[in-house]
Amino acid sequence: MQIIVPVIEQVRVARDTYRLRLASPELARAALPGQFFMIRSPGLTNPLLGRPFALYDTYLDDGGNPAGIDVVYLVVGKMTGLMSTWSAGDRVEVWGPLGNGFPTPTAKHLLLVAGGIGNTPFLAVARAARGLRGYAAAAAQKRVDNITFCYGTRSAEYLAGLDDIAPLGVELRLATDDGSRGHHGFVTDLVADWLLKNTPGDDAEQPSHARTSSRPPAAIFCCGPEPMMHAVARLAEQHKVPCWLSLETPMACGFGACFSCVTKVKQPGGGWDYRRVCVEGPIFPAESLAF
Ligand SMILES: Cc1cc2nc3c(=O)[nH]c(=O)nc-3n(C[C@H](O)[C@H](O)[C@H](O)COP(=O)(O)OP(=O)(O)OC[C@H]3O[C@@H](n4cnc5c(N)ncnc54)[C@H](O)[C@@H]3O)c2cc1C
Ligand code: FES
Repeated sequence: MQIIVPVIEQVRVARDTYRLRLASPELARAALPGQFFMIRSPGLTNPLLGRPFALYDTYLDDGGNPAGIDVVYLVVGKMTGLMSTWSAGDRVEVWGPLGNGFPTPTAKHLLLVAGGIGNTPFLAVARAARGLRGYAAAAAQKRVDNITFCYGTRSAEYLAGLDDIAPLGVELRLATDDGSRGHHGFVTDLVADWLLKNTPGDDAEQPSHARTSSRPPAAIFCCGPEPMMHAVARLAEQHKVPCWLSLETPMACGFGACFSCVTKVKQPGGGWDYRRVCVEGPIFPAESLAF
């Protein structure tokens, strides 16, 4: 849907990072974790095109009904700079919800992996997986036994939303490039360590209770810069853990018309073909992508 909605509030949540709350029960009732919205200023021609932002979460009114959506964004350029000037009462044009969203997790342990502002889809993912909130008219249902969130940023001051996700019973593992919080190094080091300790490898090496269960022991949902997602995809493949990547490809239209957002996807008979990240994605099984 295309809709003009009011800003309810704008809150700074980390360095250069803001949470924008938009009132719209329609958007909140329709959105799934992992979907995104194209956002722009109505009537403005510079910038003309909307920009894509993931659903951070829905927010509820006093009666527990979906009342609107939150997005969390990092100021990097023209549109995000403009967005940081918006305040309560300003009106914003939104298309959405767009894209496919994350699959319903079936694994016992869900490993969420974020680099930089790639953390934004994971609050709603964790809430849904824990059975704490239903999305798009689905009833809330607990899906996973455990959730671990590996999250890396340049430095501690860019870590956003920890107070939102920690109370959901999510194990947090943090990394910063400069060592100002958590592991001093890449978030992929945390992923490699977790996979080494928590995935037994070949089925034959697993304890008998694991072999008889139809649920995979672990799955990875990942979002962040491309080199980091490539590394996570390689680790997932080595440890035979199913993995989904949410791509942050720049987009012009957001609804499938311009083909500015294509990525290469492997074909069953060999070779590859293009898929539009805004329609067929932004979430793809890692093994389907032709990096
Ligand atoms: C599906 C999806 C969901 C997203 N969700 C979020 C979110 O929740 N929060 C958030 O902060 N950002 C998110 N992004 C990225 C966000 O759309 C860009 O940061 C935004 O478009 C930048 O707009 P701008 O006008 O401020 O920057 P511009 O002025 O357009 O560009 C500024 C600089 O950023 C670079 N840049 C712009 N877009 C991207 C990109 N997608 N990837 C890498 N470099 C880029 C440009 O090359 C340029 O160097 C998402 C992107 C996608 C595709
Ligand atoms: S952004 Fe236009 S087709 Fe995807």
